[in-house]
Amino acid sequence: MTERFTGSFTQQEPIPESAIDAAMQVLRHGRLHRYNLAPGELGETAQLEQEFAALTGAKYCLAVASGGYAMATALRTVGVAPGDAVLTNAFTLAPVPGAIASLGARPVYVGVTEALTIDLDDLAAKAGQADVLLLSHMRGHICDMDRLMAICDAAGVTVIEDCAHTMGAGWRGVPSGRHGAIGCYSTQTYKHVNSGEGGLLITDDAELAARAVMLSGSYMLYERHLAAPGPEVFERVKYETPNISGRMDNLRAAILRPQLAVLPEQVARWNARYDVLHDGLRDTPGLTVIERPEDETYVGSSFQFLLVDWSEPAVRSVLDRCQERGVELKWFGAAEPAGFTSRYDSWRYADAPAMPDTDRILAGLIDMRVPLTFSTEDCALIARIIRAEVSAVFQGG
Ligand SMILES: Cc1ncc(COP(=O)(O)O)c(C=O)c1O
Repeated sequence: MTERFTGSFTQQEPIPESAIDAAMQVLRHGRLHRYNLAPGELGETAQLEQEFAALTGAKYCLAVASGGYAMATALRTVGVAPGDAVLTNAFTLAPVPGAIASLGARPVYVGVTEALTIDLDDLAAKAGQADVLLLSHMRGHICDMDRLMAICDAAGVTVIEDCAHTMGAGWRGVPSGRHGAIGCYSTQTYKHVNSGEGGLLITDDAELAARAVMLSGSYMLYERHLAAPGPEVFERVKYETPNISGRMDNLRAAILRPQLAVLPEQVARWNARYDVLHDGLRDTPGLTVIERPEDETYVGSSFQFLLVDWSEPAVRSVLDRCQERGVELKWFGAAEPAGFTSRYDSWRYADAPAMPDTDRILAGLIDMRVPLTFSTEDCALIARIIRAEVSAVFQGG
């Protein structure tokens, strides 16, 4: 009998009951705006910031409306201006170059390796072209951060980390988002904590933090923050920092706080599923799994593999055959962007010289979500289906 998978690749777990209770309390008192506080009340948003700062070890944290907003705010705080070049990954998702474009700046793309991380040789070659790198830890793959920081420090490049896929991950024990000047996170439904939409930004730099708070739309209410610098720092920036509203609200923060509290357990659950997929697909002829470096602590909330140098019809055949059996795979090599999988040459508002090495990797890159609604048995079944269909096509079956 041919096995079929019947689960949904887009169905996340429900919001935990404790988060629903916290949300109901906010709805019942009606003070959803973060600065609308009763006497003595700290506010859900300010407490979320305090807790996320503690979780990552950062001095300062700001909660905002989305991950994309966090990245654009980070770029503004470090002084990126219209027309400036900003280095970023050729392999990432559209909100990353979009954040750069939102400032009127222009992305300069850096290639991807077979490890699905930024190509550090290419970065070293291009480091002189910009003052800022918006580094995307795309699909949770973290490059050698020691080497990356050495390259950027030597070239005077400020690093902003896009940790939309690495909340809870790290490199040699340092949490993702803590290597660069600023770390940005998303709390959108498909990420590691879910408030529908939302973002977080962390930094140790008092002036960057104060500017980010002002930018997010604090008016002169910044003293209601619990993970922001003191008023003397705001005195230095408050008259020259525009208000570009993008605050988080107390309802989303209330939903997020109980989820953050159980993040380490969720990471362990994701990785149990990821490891079953990895073990089930390793040594499949024609298929390359991505081996994770020992120095990386990852969160396996999505899974990638490569069909290196396969023809387009052969890749399509694998996708179709897997789809027939209920396994939904995304392909970064398709000629036309679909769903979430656009690529550097789809973002035609920015110049993108051809990147043949990157094209070769993206042409064979298959991607899959791993929601926690999947059991480890589901993951074993998915791996059996992919393995069978890849083998069949590879052997000309
Ligand atoms: C790699 C990456 N960075 C940033 C973002 C932006 O996050 P948000 O959707 O919260 O704006 C996303 C969202 O999908 C993403 O995948």
